[in-house]
Amino acid sequence: MKLPYAEPYKVKMVESIKRSTLEQRKKWIKKAHYNLFNLSSDKVFIDLLTDSGTGAMSDQQWSALMSGDESYAGSKSFLKLKKTVNKITGYKYFLPTHQGRAAENVLFSVLVKEGNIIPGNSHFDTTKGHIEFRKATAVDCSIDEAFNTTAQHPFKGNIDPKKLKKVFDDNPDNIPFVVFTITCNTSGGQPVSIENIKAVSKLCKTYNIPLIFDAARFAENAYFIKKREKGYENTSIKKIAKEMFYYGDGMTMSAKKDGLVNMGGFIALNNEEVYKQAAIYNIMYEGFLTYGGMNGRDMAALAVGLDEATEFDYLESRIEQVAYLGEKLIEYGVPVLQPIGGHAVFLDANKFVPTIPREEYRAQALAIELYIVGGIRGVEIGTVLADRDPFTRKNRYPELELVRLAIPRRTYSLNHMKYIAAVLKNIYDSRDQAKSGYTIIDEAPIMRHFTVKFKKN
Ligand SMILES: Cc1ncc(COP(=O)(O)O)c(C=O)c1O
Repeated sequence: MKLPYAEPYKVKMVESIKRSTLEQRKKWIKKAHYNLFNLSSDKVFIDLLTDSGTGAMSDQQWSALMSGDESYAGSKSFLKLKKTVNKITGYKYFLPTHQGRAAENVLFSVLVKEGNIIPGNSHFDTTKGHIEFRKATAVDCSIDEAFNTTAQHPFKGNIDPKKLKKVFDDNPDNIPFVVFTITCNTSGGQPVSIENIKAVSKLCKTYNIPLIFDAARFAENAYFIKKREKGYENTSIKKIAKEMFYYGDGMTMSAKKDGLVNMGGFIALNNEEVYKQAAIYNIMYEGFLTYGGMNGRDMAALAVGLDEATEFDYLESRIEQVAYLGEKLIEYGVPVLQPIGGHAVFLDANKFVPTIPREEYRAQALAIELYIVGGIRGVEIGTVLADRDPFTRKNRYPELELVRLAIPRRTYSLNHMKYIAAVLKNIYDSRDQAKSGYTIIDEAPIMRHFTVKFKKN
């Protein structure tokens, strides 16, 4: 008999989570203006809002915290982290930041100018936000399969080199870099193959355009390469990661994902000139070069986290847990994005609740229902997140209307996954009753999803 995977850790400390009643949840979500970001966490039973900064640190990380060096300049924890980042990525220059979007802010302050085009594979919202804030345009060059929720492509995060080449040809001297998000959060936690990274890298080199990774989930991407790409079966995760980075010129990192810490980020680069300019912005926005918005202790824990996150056993249990939830839902007939991504299961709201008009934010409506029925907090990745076109101010309707159930790392058990699947089955079985959604009554001019207010139709 093939043995199932088992978590390569045991529990040392637990945190209580509270159940609530249907009536309570109806009241709470109404008060929160039907925005799940507005709910306090004690009103949530299982929190799948994000896998960002919500994971559990290991005993080794907690003990590293105690050794954190809080010196303003030249802290030992900084040097240790710098060494680890260099070992894992191969990039020479390193700037710590307080989180991923801060790394984007610093790097894009150097690289992005008004009118620029920045191609990539379905840019993450903060990445897009930082591009558009600078009056530049993010162009999605993902392969077509990325937009088909049931296409069984092993690397749906891939960039289509033909699309990319066209963007390069149409925009001479106007592309400061390409962003390659590994794994691609927006298209469903879908991985990118080494073969594709190589092809994109080659194209970028031909056009002399730098390739920058958005590497928040680089270790999960490396795991998929090991499992799915021919020739990598026997290569270690650390080696695969280093090879991926080798084909690029640098990276921004949200360490809250594959850094296995609750807060942190960084930039790593090979180009000294870009590093020098970014260093100035880092000092202005984040802090001195040897802490950049992080405590010494957080840098110490991150150095350990990066090492743990690039171990096969950890990654196997992490990704298999997510796959377990996805497969249970498929068994129940619930429409989910396939193949199951690395960090989350994505519900396909276009197929789940086609009865709710798109103009009434059907994916948001589904996320709200999931909270009301089961106390589970997911997040809309659809029209609300896609925001308005910055020029026309009209709603942008993306191809996919998804609800993301992001699974925090080393946090929930398999029974939690079973509970989530059962709640969704019940909602799915009564889906015909869903006829109307929500109307926006208040929204911010950019990144509206965090603070938007709705009323029920
Ligand atoms: C792919 C990707 N890039 C960037 C970010 C931004 O990172 P942070 O939340 O640390 O600012 C995220 C966060 O979820 C992400 O998923």
